[in-house]
Amino acid sequence: MVPVRHHGELLGALAVTKPGRESLSPTEEKLVSDVGAQAGLVLRNGRLTAELMARLEELKASRLRLVAAQDEERRRMERDLHDGAQQQLVALKIQLSLVEQLAEGGQPVAPMLAQLKQDTTDALETLRDLARGIYPPLLASEGLPTALAGHARRVSVPVEIVADGVGRYPKDLEAAVYFCCLEALQNVAKYARASSVTVNLRAEGRSLTFTVSDDGTGFDPASTPQGSGSQNMADRMEALDGTLEILSRPGGGTTVRGSVPCSVDDSRPLVDLAH
Ligand SMILES: Nc1ncnc2c1ncn2[C@@H]1O[C@H](COP(=O)(O)OP(=O)(O)O)[C@@H](O)[C@H]1O
Ligand SMILES: [Mg+2]
Repeated sequence: MVPVRHHGELLGALAVTKPGRESLSPTEEKLVSDVGAQAGLVLRNGRLTAELMARLEELKASRLRLVAAQDEERRRMERDLHDGAQQQLVALKIQLSLVEQLAEGGQPVAPMLAQLKQDTTDALETLRDLARGIYPPLLASEGLPTALAGHARRVSVPVEIVADGVGRYPKDLEAAVYFCCLEALQNVAKYARASSVTVNLRAEGRSLTFTVSDDGTGFDPASTPQGSGSQNMADRMEALDGTLEILSRPGGGTTVRGSVPCSVDDSRPLVDLAH
């Protein structure tokens, strides 16, 4: 009987029997132990392949969920555009035709023009709100800490932002971290009944880590069904080869912690020189 190991890890055993009660010669023993060593490699490779396949499946599933979420987002945008800015612009066009007719008839148009100016401002505001939801302009121009601080002002719980060594990163990385923090903050506002929440951003070596910690009610992750919010956060991190964990217990507050690899070369200066 020979143990089958790979780098010291016991993976199985190789049993060899000879007819009668004959024992193995030293050469045979050497042969069997060599085969055992080879078998270790084979078993290890088999396990690695299985692990790789499982990880691939997981990745495929998370990609699919991301695509579905993006489709849903597009539908929401289409609805917002259709019911919002598009309606406002159609109304503006009709009003403009009316003003045209009034002007042609030599009638006073100043009061109507004033109204049209206000309507145009409203339409612009609608479009701006929509654009902010798609890709926040502050994130593109100033980076994560400033964009999160800008958002924090609109959260009903006091938010403290601590950023340590955080620069500029590729757009999709910044967006992933930003929207994860937004979802975590939204959960705090919705569920935590917290008195404060801290967002911590930290660039260390080749990874960027964020935590969103509140001092609220907390929850039991084992018995609380995961919602689409947590799934989206996990998917966003996974898509960038990162990780996400949600630490919570009843009465002990909640911490969402995500980490993504980022190469140092990717960081751009905090102040975008193009601006
Ligand atoms: N900061 C928090 N404080 C307390 N409970 C939370 C917090 N974050 C999440 N939860 C709990 O986890 C559940 C799942 O959250 P999430 O995945 O974001 O789903 P949802 O889409 O319903 O917000 C919530 O319904 C809530 O019970
Ligand atoms: Mg949520």
